[in-house]
Order: sequence, then structure tokens, then C-alpha cells
Amino acid sequence: MHARRAQVLFFLTVGALLGCAPAPSGTATTLAVAAEAQREGDAAKGYDALVNGEYVTCGIPESLFAKTIGEAPENLRLPGRTGRNEKLRYDYTAITAANGAKLVSVNCLTCHAAVRDGKVVVGLGESQSDYTTDLAPFAEAAGQLVSDPAEKAEWRRWADRVVTVQPYILADTMGVNVADNLAPILFSHRDQKTLSWSARPLLDPPPTQVVPVDVPPWWNLKKKNSMFHTALGRGDQSRIMMSAALLCTDELAQAKAIDQSFPDVRAYLLSLKPPAYPYPLDAALVATGHQVFDQTCARCHGTYGEGGSYPNLVVVTEEVGTDPTLALATSAASPTRRFNDWFNGSFYGERARLVTTVGYVAPPLDGLWATAPYFHNGSVPTVADVLDSTHRPAFWTRDFTTYDFDRDRLGFRFTDVGHGKSDESDASKRRAIYDTTRPGYGNHGHTYGDALSPAEKAALLEYLKTL
Ligand code: HEC
Ligand code: HEC
Repeated sequence: MHARRAQVLFFLTVGALLGCAPAPSGTATTLAVAAEAQREGDAAKGYDALVNGEYVTCGIPESLFAKTIGEAPENLRLPGRTGRNEKLRYDYTAITAANGAKLVSVNCLTCHAAVRDGKVVVGLGESQSDYTTDLAPFAEAAGQLVSDPAEKAEWRRWADRVVTVQPYILADTMGVNVADNLAPILFSHRDQKTLSWSARPLLDPPPTQVVPVDVPPWWNLKKKNSMFHTALGRGDQSRIMMSAALLCTDELAQAKAIDQSFPDVRAYLLSLKPPAYPYPLDAALVATGHQVFDQTCARCHGTYGEGGSYPNLVVVTEEVGTDPTLALATSAASPTRRFNDWFNGSFYGERARLVTTVGYVAPPLDGLWATAPYFHNGSVPTVADVLDSTHRPAFWTRDFTTYDFDRDRLGFRFTDVGHGKSDESDASKRRAIYDTTRPGYGNHGHTYGDALSPAEKAALLEYLKTL
């Protein structure tokens, strides 16, 4: 027993040492994340599992859904959907509960798909969602519309979870994603071994203050040796991503069943390609910009096109200088580290683990033109502003109903509401303003473009459109 324990400790220590060694090309401020073995899967089966699979196993009764949301217009339906899913919007999935009740759940595409020019782009992070409304009262009230006993029981199961997590995922600002707050509150209400739901938290709940995050595009996963902005997710990526269904995964057997299809889901994610820039390009500018990029940016973001390479670097927060709140929240020194420990000691941790680094991944920039806003917290609306840290808007707002693409600045059009507007008293206007003075919302750092001349910046911007 003791010898075995020692052996395990030995491997963990060696692993940690190897993991922390600077890359051959690295410096004290960067850390290269090594590739790890992944389970193989089938992309076509993965798409089917993603859009038809019952991996989110709770939801609202179909009768209630029909009365409130109903069928989707043609353009918001997805190909390859079968049965009851055929007429649903892309981000809803029809499921059947253990008690026979027919339900509709949300799926991964709630956050990992977005609508552009009237079409659904699967894999593009949703940047226009609104998590600023408390849904608990609606979840409770909806029960009055349900009469069938099986449906009522399932509505209660779903509403309990929504009401429990709601105080922890209430954002201050529209457009930011709250997924990084959702995971810890779910961990704290689930038995680490059986995954059963507990009405009382079994671990101290996380802080209620939302740490804002932007959803990365799925098409870059094929280059990444880790998952998440902070490189927190290591090991078997299929096992990590299925934990996103934990709102409803109530038992170990269910988790094991979901796990079967997730290597296929991952294979599908790896098959995704970034959308090509759809507007004219200036070839001469692109060529100049390519040189600027290779001299100034490639050491962290890699090279692109034929023979391109990606270094998988985490850059420590002191070096990159972007808002450190997210990285610190999951760091080894943070009291919220208990959530990493929960994951690592659970079924999910059998193949994967959450590892802290206190830095951010220098992400692949493929399809960058389509993925505004920028940085892990979505604090910068255009690539032009990424390239000039001295001119980023401190308080800005945008149109949340359309994606108003700005070809010149590469990103979306926004309104700089200027200093002093942070005290906007109309709450509905207030929550539409991205206030970079809030904790976690900072837009500072990443000054690597600042020293470039205006001509170099213009060329670089043109080149970035081609990635
Ligand atoms: C509530 C919104 C939400 C849902 C639902 C969701 N995700 Fe995510 N996902 C995110 C956010 C936000 C991140 C980035 C978090 C971070 O990096 O800290 C992310 C990150 C990821 C990543 C890592 C991407 C990268 O480049 O590091 C993968 C893969 C992923 N999600 C897959 C899934 C799958 C598969 C599902 C469904 C089972 C799912 N997600 C459901 C919001 C969501
Ligand atoms: C020392 C490493 C390093 C260098 C050099 C560097 N970057 Fe970055 N870059 C990063 C890191 C780390 C991030 C993530 C920061 C965050 O999200 O907080 C990032 C983020 C970005 C983003 C936002 C990506 C997104 O999807 O949100 C863009 C765009 C970008 N860099 C472009 C560039 C360009 C262009 C250059 C050259 C002028 C450059 N970077 C130089 C490390 C670097």
C-alpha cells in the first residue's frame, strides 16, 4: 500500500517537474504545455451526438416549451437533426427523462454557436448572450403551467438547479459568459464520488462575483494541448468537455454513458475550420504584414499557412499584463482551488485534471476576424485596439441584436461612451456598457503592438484577416 502510494507520488512529482520546465524556446515568463494522449473518435458520429445526443439530462417539459418558445425559423435549424430535434432551434435538444417525461434541454451550442448574417456558425463563441437577468423567478413561475405529474417532477428537478446556481452566475454586463462561475457552484452541490445532487452545498460555494469570460472558438482546439484561457484543462479533453453537462448529470452511470460519445464529439470539434475572410484583401499589404507578424508576434502565437507551427505557450500574467483576475481565481494559491481538487478527485479526474499556471494561453489566431471581442474577458472590441493599448475604450457599448462587423478595425462597431458614464443610472443602459474598471473586466496589457508604426499596424491588420 505504502510503496504504491510512493510510486504514485513519484510520478506526480516527475510529471509536475516536466510540466513546469521552460520550453527550449521559452523564457522564465512563458511555459510550453506538452501534448498528451487523447482518445480517438469519429467526427460524423460526434456531430450527431452533439446535435441529437441526450447529454444534458434535465430541462423543461416539452408542453411548456411549446407554449413559450416553440419551433424555430428555418434558418435557425440545423441539418442532420432527427425526430423531435428537427424543428428546434440549434441550441435546444429534445430529451426523454427517466420517468418518461418529454423535455427540452439546452446544449453546448448555447455558448458555442452564433448567428452571423442569418446563419448558424457552429463552433463560433456566442458573444451576444445576456446573463444579467435573474431567471429564478421565471423558472419557479413556469411550474404553474405544468400539470402532468411526470412533467411536474422533471420541471422541479430542473428548476431546483436553476434556482441554486442563479445567484452565482448573475453577470453585471451583457455579452460576457459566466461558464467559469457555473462549474464551481455545480461542483459544490455534487457528491464527488457519486455525482448525486445535494440541495445543500457539500463544498463552500464560490464567490458570487462573476468573473467574465469570452467563449473561444472550437476550431482552434486542434492546435491546443490544454483547454481554457488559463490552460487549466489538461489530459483527456473529451472527459473535460463533457463536464459542461454537469447541471444535470445526476449519477455516475449517466456520466459514464455520456463519456462514450465524447471522443466522437471531440473529433467533430477537431474537424471544424475557421471561416475564411469574405471581403477583398490587399495582397501587397498582406505580404508586408506577414513579415511584421513573424518578427513581432509569431514567437507566442505561432506561424500560419503551409508548414505552420504553434508553440502552446502560457504567458504569465506579469508578462502579458492583461487582467489577472481569472488566472488568479484558479491559481494554486487561491482559496477557490478546492474546485480543482473536486474535479481531480472525481470521475472527471480519472482521465483529466485541472492544473493551475497563473497565466494565459497565447491563443491560435485562426479565424480571428470573426471572433470579436478580444482577450480572455472580451474587454477589447476590435483587433486594431488590441494592437494599440493606449487607445482602447474604457467604457463601451454595442448593438446586441446584430453583429455589426467593422472591416477597418477588425471586430465589431462599438460606441465609446467615455469616462464618467460608468454611473449611468438607467439599469438597462448600464448593463449594456462594458466597464473596464470593474474587477476582472480590465483591458490593459498585451502591449506588443504599441511600438509598431501606423503603416506596420495597417499591414499587420491586413495579414491577420487571412488567418
Ligand atoms: C454556458 C456556456 C457554455 C456551455 C453550455 C458550454 N461551454 Fe464550452 N466553454 C465556455 C466558455 C466560457 C469557455 C472558456 C472558458 C475558459 O477558457 O476559461 C469554454 C471552453 C470550452 C472548450 C475549450 C476551448 C479552448 O480553446 O480552450 C471546449 C472544447 C468546450 N468549451 C466544449 C464544450 C462542450 C463540448 C460543451 C457541451 C457539452 C460546452 N463546451 C458547453 C462556455 C460554455
Ligand atoms: C509574449 C507573448 C505574446 C506576444 C509577443 C504577442 N502576444 Fe498576442 N497574446 C498573448 C497572450 C498570452 C494572449 C492572451 C491574453 C488574454 O487573453 O488575456 C494574447 C492575445 C492576443 C489576441 C486576442 C486573441 C483573442 O482571440 O482574444 C490577439 C488578437 C493577439 N494576441 C495578437 C497579437 C499580435 C498581432 C501580436 C504581435 C504584434 C501579439 N499578439 C504578440 C501573447 C503574446
